[in-house]
Amino acid sequence: MTQLLKGKRGIIFGALDEQSIAWKVAQVAHQEGATFVLTNAPIAMRMGEINKLAETTNSKIIPADATSDEDLTKLFTESQEILGGKIDFVLHSIGMSPNVRKAKPYMDLNYDFFHKTLDVSALSLHRVLQNAHKLDALNDWASVVALSYIAAQRTFPDYSDMAEAKALLESIARSFGYHYGKAKHVRVNTVSQSPTWTTAGSGVPGFKEFFRYADTMSPLGNASAEDCAKYCVTLFSDYTRMVTMQNLFHDGGFSMMGINAAMVATETDDSK
Ligand SMILES: NC(=O)c1ccc[n+]([C@@H]2O[C@H](COP(=O)([O-])OP(=O)(O)OC[C@H]3O[C@@H](n4cnc5c(N)ncnc54)[C@H](O)[C@@H]3O)[C@@H](O)[C@H]2O)c1
Repeated sequence: MTQLLKGKRGIIFGALDEQSIAWKVAQVAHQEGATFVLTNAPIAMRMGEINKLAETTNSKIIPADATSDEDLTKLFTESQEILGGKIDFVLHSIGMSPNVRKAKPYMDLNYDFFHKTLDVSALSLHRVLQNAHKLDALNDWASVVALSYIAAQRTFPDYSDMAEAKALLESIARSFGYHYGKAKHVRVNTVSQSPTWTTAGSGVPGFKEFFRYADTMSPLGNASAEDCAKYCVTLFSDYTRMVTMQNLFHDGGFSMMGINAAMVATETDDSK
């Protein structure tokens, strides 16, 4: 059997626990022959869960706060030393909103929190790319994927300021995709994933309801974290070399739906 990522070196951000999308990406990338470094915010390492993933995927862990240039410089420098060359793929699987965590209503947001949301969840992609570029740490035709959500285009009220963060994230993928593409053929895309049961996902109020809504609305149902991982791996592979600056929906068809029979049946009360 061919291994899609044989010989490729990567950096995977955001594997917190077994539910994390990044955790599944690491497992599939390992199966497909890649070697990589796992990274997460130092505070997220406290639980030690990531050590299990590092063991089963034969990978090293380098803590890095994605809002720190110093940490990112160290991460890219040491990763190249550990992996023995420049990096071929990067997964940005990072999201956090203090306003969501503290259940601040959208019309009473705390702006210090808002800045933090944007810094962690969106500007971090720019920082990752800028640091990689300054260090010339990525190979020609490297692939960078960040995870997004459809609240960047449509209104999902409980997603709060994360909607703005995802809109900015997708814009950075387009803009940096242009510059890095011209400079070194580096590809930058976002994958807009279905609601998924993870720490970040289930922290959004009403998550259970909109998980069920999206599942009912999508002809294929919600895409799982495992499916998302497989899709990300295809984007890291050489089979998608001309795909860049895109926001790619990975959502079982949800983004193209208006209404369907199952939703009509739930909403219609025949007794009236
Ligand atoms: N779960 C969903 O429903 C869903 C849907 C679409 C997109 N996404 C996106 O997928 C990505 C991964 O989330 P997940 O659902 O796997 O949840 P998760 O909670 O497992 O992952 C989020 C990760 O972000 C990391 N992080 C937070 N602050 C950081 C910082 N300063 N520096 C480095 N890392 C930091 C956390 O430690 C954690 O590992 C996020 O961008 C999220 O918005 C999730």
